[in-house]
Amino acid sequence: MGSEDSQFATLVMRHLFQARGIDMSGYSPSFVMRSIKKRLGRSGAPDYPGYLKLLKKSEDETNALLGTLSVNVTDFFRDRGAFEAFWRSVVKPLLLSKIEGGGIARFWSAGCATGQETYTMAICIAEVVKDLDPTRLPMITVLGTDISTNALAKAKSGIYTKEEVKGLSDNFLMEYFRKTPQGYEACPALRKGMRFSRENLLEDPQSKYFDAIVCRNVMIYFSREMHDKVATNLYHALMRGGYLMLGKTETLMGAPREAFEVVDLENRILKKKA
Ligand SMILES: C[S@@+](CC[C@H](N)C(=O)[O-])C[C@H]1O[C@@H](n2cnc3c(N)ncnc32)[C@H](O)[C@@H]1O
Repeated sequence: MGSEDSQFATLVMRHLFQARGIDMSGYSPSFVMRSIKKRLGRSGAPDYPGYLKLLKKSEDETNALLGTLSVNVTDFFRDRGAFEAFWRSVVKPLLLSKIEGGGIARFWSAGCATGQETYTMAICIAEVVKDLDPTRLPMITVLGTDISTNALAKAKSGIYTKEEVKGLSDNFLMEYFRKTPQGYEACPALRKGMRFSRENLLEDPQSKYFDAIVCRNVMIYFSREMHDKVATNLYHALMRGGYLMLGKTETLMGAPREAFEVVDLENRILKKKA
């Protein structure tokens, strides 16, 4: 990235901080610049100064840029193999250990975008629960968090279009969703114990003591320094012996790396050492 690009990225980030209080300093400048260029092309602005001017006067353009920056792309069972591994190597042993040892089972979908990942986790949990003794089940909670309030509004609604539910098998769609005029709505049984809230992963987590955290395709947006910060936050939010699942292209960096053992390298499932 040239120095003109990096200076312009800094000016735009400063604007986002002044206008909205959003601190983008932890994001990788080349990622920020790619998003700016995408928006610049679509906005009709002639050049960098023209685009900055537009950003300063147009709330809509600022929103559009923020939308591009937080790229909310997601899907149900995005990466099927990984969620099969989550079901087999995380949910099952975790719930069995809770039956033995008692206590609540707490799951966190960190950077959940519009919620498909959170509902996918809830389906994996519901499927494992089917084989367990209902009288000995632990209480189960699933938290979905994201920085984007727009994405969270959709996650909370639990309503998805026909196109969006394509990642779900017919069986899961029939069992866990009901058809409504707006599309397919997650049924109350699936949403039991589920909660969504806004959270910036670069800040200290609001909740801790999780038994399993899924944080997929989020760290890719962060600079190395911020990656380390998020990794440390996730580490502190996890119980000893708790599981962390990352995206398939992601690796845990920084100090907390040593505190985890690998459960499934291919599917990026790690376990915090006891
Ligand atoms: C590509 S989506 C991934 C969604 C889901 N985890 C998946 O793998 O399908 C990345 C999400 O990370 C969120 N995100 C980006 N920066 C964040 C931050 N600092 N704190 C919390 N969430 C963030 C974005 O808003 C976006 O919804």
